[in-house]
Amino acid sequence: MLSAIASLLCVTLLGLQAGALPVDDFSVTSQKFLSGEVPAGFSINLDEERLVQFSEDETPVWMTEREKIRAKALGRKFFDITDTPTFMPAPASLAALKAYPKVNKQGLVKPVIANLTVDGMITNLQKFTSFRTRYYRSETGKQSQQWLVQRIGEITEQYASTDLADLITITEFTHPWGQNSVILRIKGASEEATAQNGTVLIGAHQDSANMIPFLPAPGADDDGSGSVTILEAYRGLLASNYTPVQDVEFHWYSAEEGGLLGSQAVASTYAQRGINIHSMIQLDMTAWVKKGTREEIGIVTDYVDADLTQFIRTLVDAYCSIPSVDTQCGYACSDHASWSKVGYRSAFAIESTFENSDKNVHSTNDRLDISPEFDFNHMLEFSKLTVGYIVETAGWAK
Ligand code: BES
Ligand code: ZN
Repeated sequence: MLSAIASLLCVTLLGLQAGALPVDDFSVTSQKFLSGEVPAGFSINLDEERLVQFSEDETPVWMTEREKIRAKALGRKFFDITDTPTFMPAPASLAALKAYPKVNKQGLVKPVIANLTVDGMITNLQKFTSFRTRYYRSETGKQSQQWLVQRIGEITEQYASTDLADLITITEFTHPWGQNSVILRIKGASEEATAQNGTVLIGAHQDSANMIPFLPAPGADDDGSGSVTILEAYRGLLASNYTPVQDVEFHWYSAEEGGLLGSQAVASTYAQRGINIHSMIQLDMTAWVKKGTREEIGIVTDYVDADLTQFIRTLVDAYCSIPSVDTQCGYACSDHASWSKVGYRSAFAIESTFENSDKNVHSTNDRLDISPEFDFNHMLEFSKLTVGYIVETAGWAK
């Protein structure tokens, strides 16, 4: 009787967690997958002990990878801090408040924006979602990462002038789990300006995950959409022969779904090396426009820098054809939080309010052909925002 009440309570509570399966479905299905053998193509040790932090005011706890996967499927939110249990914060001087300028480079930004299209985003996302899963501990997750590196190389070759190509480097930030984070840098014309004002970062996460990691995860919206959105912004900038004054970096993080693992490794390394970062903006989920709702750009207001966030609102007003709307995740829901954690300024733009966002995430239905609500023209608005952010902050060396 008591256990019946307890499980009823459990179902009710868990039913409230966004993205969680009803507990019965999940416990039956997960039992099957998490108690048996790890299938071929995955390198996961389900018994490995991981250090997990559920919220800022809770002490981190050790649990097995199996328990961690269950916790996520049950809707719990966390950082996995096993590899970064302590971190060196970014030197305070580097994170010092810099007043954001008024948006004033319309003359430079608008011609770039005019040349952005959905064409590349469609073909890139079709390919990216064709990997069975981009799970960070899977073979196909490694293959999708290799494809991404190759695609960035092709775009660079096709669109960068010879002078510009000399300023571009594509680096794999290696992680112990197989799928690496990818870092694309356009070196700025002024080393002094980069040292003084910092590198400008734009990020997305390349990995996908089914709630049960061994099942397919096309990850079209989460976060294939953000990944190809920033790639299109890059293509557009190259096609306009853009040379920044300060360094600009595009980051495609691995293992966001494992608890912000890739971005924590990258951010803590940058902080440790004392690298000056101007600011970081994350794009995670840029495609969904819920039927019957107004098309908007969601501006996340928790776990972010308030001034940078205000600056993004002004960028949306200047460069996007839809308005912004404030929203909250309620937890450290994507890679921007890894940068905030070490003391850098970060912000997060998302497809809509949290409530109106795509509910197919972490399932086999996170597909680009699932519904007309998956909208490439909506993604294009985020490419415009990316171009505006980069040119306004990193400048344009003519
Ligand atoms: N893109 C999601 C976050 C999200 C989900 C935003 C739904 C808006 C609506 C992200 O990839 C994610 O899944 N984050 C994890 C937390 C992370 C720390 C492991 C999550 O929400 O469970
Ligand atoms: Zn996710």
